[in-house]
Order: sequence, then C-alpha cells, then structure tokens
Amino acid sequence: MKKGLKGRSFLTLLDFTQEEIKEILRTAHTLKKERKLHKKKLRFQAKTLAMLFEKPSTRTRCSFETAFGEEGGYPVFLTSQDLHLGSKETIEDTARVLGRMFDCIMFRGYKQETAQILMKYSGLPVYNGLTDSFHPTQTMADLMTIEEEFGTLKGIKCAYVGDGRNNVARSLLVGCCKTGVHITIVTPEQLMPESSFIDSCKELAAQNGASVLVTDSIEEGVKNAHVLYTDVWISMGEEEKKIERIVLLTPYQVNNDVMNMTGLAGTIFLHCLPAVKGQEVTEGVFEGPASRVWEQAENRKHTIKAILLLTLGC
Ligand code: CP
Ligand code: NVA
Repeated sequence: MKKGLKGRSFLTLLDFTQEEIKEILRTAHTLKKERKLHKKKLRFQAKTLAMLFEKPSTRTRCSFETAFGEEGGYPVFLTSQDLHLGSKETIEDTARVLGRMFDCIMFRGYKQETAQILMKYSGLPVYNGLTDSFHPTQTMADLMTIEEEFGTLKGIKCAYVGDGRNNVARSLLVGCCKTGVHITIVTPEQLMPESSFIDSCKELAAQNGASVLVTDSIEEGVKNAHVLYTDVWISMGEEEKKIERIVLLTPYQVNNDVMNMTGLAGTIFLHCLPAVKGQEVTEGVFEGPASRVWEQAENRKHTIKAILLLTLGC
C-alpha cells in the first residue's frame, strides 16, 4: 500500500521506497531552480522546528535552519547544554513536551534509538540529522549531486573509500541500493560493515537494479567508478580511536593515483565534509577539477527543504 510522505519521519533510508526517494530528489531539483530564480515562498509559515544537537554541525544545522526559516518557519536551536535531554529528564518526557509545542523535530546525536524515542513519544515527524548509525539527509544530497552530474542514478558506480562502518558509509550503501547505483565499499577487513547489514543491502540492491561489493582491494573497488567518495577516518565520538584508524586507513587515502585507478576520465570526487585534508583525501584531489564537494554541500539545503515540505505536507 502506498503510504505517502506526509506525516512521516526521516530516520533511515531503509524506511523509504525507490519511488519515495525519487520524489524527494525531484522536489529538491525544483527547489534549487526556484532559489536560483529568487522565488520566495512562505510554505513553513507559522510552523515550528525543534533542532536538537548532541554533536556539532555546520552544514546540517545551517541547511535545516535556513531552509525552514526562509520560508517563514521558526527553527529553535537546542544543544545538550540547553536541554535536560537524557540527563535530568528522560528522552521520553522531553519528547512529550516537545510534541505539545512544535510541528517537527530534528535530532543530531549518538544513538539512533534516541531519534526513535523522540518520534514515538512526541508523535511528530522526526528528522535524523546524523547518528552513530546513519546520516540519511547527507545521502539525499549525495544522490542529488550524482544526478546533477550524470543525469541519472541508474547504472552509476559509486566507490566509497575509507571507514566502511560509519554513518555516512552505511547510509550511502542503503541509498545507492534503493536507487539503482552500484556501490562498492573499499575498506580494510576490520572496518567492513557487519555481514547481516551487507546481506540486507544486497537484497535491496537486487530489488532495485543495483549491486554491492565490499572489498579491501582499492584497485578492484574503484575500477570503473563514476564517483569516488570518502569521509573522515575518525567520526565524532570516536576520538580515542585516532591512532588505530590512521594506521588502518592510511593506505586508503583518496589521492590522484586512486582517482586515476578508476580508468574513467569523468570520475567525480565527493565528501560529506568536514574534511581532514592530508588524511582521507589529498589537498590536490579536494581542490582539483573532479571535486564536487561544494555543490554537494549546497545540495544539503535543497534536499532537506524537500524532505521538510513533503513530510509536513506544505
Ligand atoms: N556533512 C555534514 O553533516 O556536515 P556537518 O557536520 O557540518 O553538519
Ligand atoms: N562520519 C562523520 C560524518 C560527519 C558529517 C561523523 O560522524 O563525524
């Protein structure tokens, strides 16, 4: 049965069909064109968005805040220091209060479970602005950027090189499998996603015309890739793993040699940002002609606005 997007939360792409993801992308492309034409609308007028942050953010915060605010909505930025969230008050109780005051909630933090509790107890649409498990709004911007570059998602090959277990890799894996993008995770054995998760993604890929390869071989993994993607080696909250990650991932740095290994002239480079240049990517690739990182960062805003519009039914 078709559920429609109105009233839905956005916690993981696992909850969305290929058609729903495409509807969000189509809306995002339209919104981007509208903005370039300076077409101002007030589709969020008199609506309120609670933005809860346990971790820092530049792009996600600014995307949600400007997307919602510039259309007449009222976003309220709240950090763990401002709220009792999970310390003096349970997440369930905080959620019940927010549910009586706001129209929707964005959450960035550690546990995916916190986002689920916020959804259950507030009764509102909740948007995952990054947890340890997933970063689904990032993947929407990644897919939009790939579509802009190649005019399609179907048949595109994307190779993610780096920490294969992190939130960005896991969401990208799901997003690609749902939309017909052939996805390769190139990562050392110790950082490969859990096998049960890979198996579920392979099933999704089979249903949607995509394929999944997880390998520790850079040569094998990046061959014929239209897109090379990387993310930081040490995600927020993993600072104590710094030395071990640098040792494990130094051979997986995206540099010009790795870009050339795709064998394609038109391969583009993507990174969710923020980047640690000299670690996961060289300055040369980051600043080079294949880099689309600023388009990708801008597309955070258009895709997030599309998610807000469609789920709020505005
Ligand atoms: N890519 C991303 O989520 O960036 P921020 O951490 O700045 O929000
Ligand atoms: N994997 C990174 C993504 C930052 C946007 C982190 O969680 O820190």
